[in-house]
Amino acid sequence: ETRPLIDPFQRPITYLRLSVTDRCDFRCSYCMAEEMTFLPKKELLSLEELDRMATAFIGLGVRKLRVTGGEPLVRKDILTFFRAMSRHLDSGALDELTLTTNGSQLARFAGDLVEAGVRRINVSLDTLDADKFHEITRRGSLAKVMAGLDAAQEAGLRVKLNAVALKNFNESELFALTEFCAARDMDLTWIEVMPMGEMEAETRLDQYWPLTDLREKLATRYTLTPLTERSGGPARYMRLEETGQKIGFITPLTHNFCESCNRVRMTCTGELYMCLGQEDRADLRAPLRDHPDDDAALIAAIRDAISHKPEGHDFDYSRQRADGQMSRHMSHTGG
Ligand code: GTP
Ligand code: 5AD
Ligand code: SF4
Repeated sequence: ETRPLIDPFQRPITYLRLSVTDRCDFRCSYCMAEEMTFLPKKELLSLEELDRMATAFIGLGVRKLRVTGGEPLVRKDILTFFRAMSRHLDSGALDELTLTTNGSQLARFAGDLVEAGVRRINVSLDTLDADKFHEITRRGSLAKVMAGLDAAQEAGLRVKLNAVALKNFNESELFALTEFCAARDMDLTWIEVMPMGEMEAETRLDQYWPLTDLREKLATRYTLTPLTERSGGPARYMRLEETGQKIGFITPLTHNFCESCNRVRMTCTGELYMCLGQEDRADLRAPLRDHPDDDAALIAAIRDAISHKPEGHDFDYSRQRADGQMSRHMSHTGG
């Protein structure tokens, strides 16, 4: 059964974002609540189940696998999973094996990730100010992340920083972050903050910094040239001619990119979310666990889920009320 996965809107699904844990050593305010209750171990897919799941999707045409969380590197023995997935790189079935991380554990893991075939990683970093970093992550250490970035680059990983654009928070660091990335030869992608979690709608709206504004501000100092190349994710890129660096823009609010969506997300309990901004989901853990020696039921469940992928999200700040908000935490679906 090798028919590719095509959704009802004729979009091929070639990108799986796989969350391997709901835990994180940080508590970023736009992502998690200060106090979270985490899942008991038996709810999580085991490493073997994660392998079976990812392998099934790869068999159905997925070419890009991104490991997410929570923080993926806090999952026990996660390197075993990366090493196992490298067989799909070797066979040519997979184009890219990668992860999105908060960077806190990279000093320990960078070398091993490279050995497992990871070439490029995305690191979330919203500020270069240690106090502000602590404020937004509630328990992170900027120094550890910086050490992680050093280790990643020394190990030969290509690094892209993800910064969530937050008014009254990192607006003032637009140029500092740009220069930091230019000096270190890292790409930088800005993300519009999405209304998820239980934060009050008004607070979220206060934080919202549309990337149309950010781009205008950037254009006061740099010459921006739009690029047509894509990375297989939702970002659109521009080049800053003065530095040669690439800046990405992820704009779920100001410019909906759903028409070219190629991805689905699996939670660490084996639920497949068809869209980050919708509740549509399918339980794939049951067909996986109920049939330990046969993937037919799992594959049928995957195909059925994809046939229900919605056309797009409906995040919307213009409604200004809690109805544009989802109670699910971002850490649940891995962003
Ligand atoms: P690249 O491979 O570098 O393009 O990465 P990526 O952008 O696909 O992955 P990354 O984990 O860096 O994603 C950055 C953020 O973009 C995610 O955490 C989400 O916040 C947002 N994002 C990614 N895909 C979607 C999507 O389908 N819908 C929405 N609304 N946001 C998305
Ligand atoms: N809006 C936008 N981006 C978010 N992220 C987490 N929560 C949100 C949100 N509410 C980002 C993180 C990380 C990625 C996985 O998702 O900063 O870069
Ligand atoms: Fe952890 Fe990333 Fe969520 Fe921050 S955004 S709490 S680092 S999972």
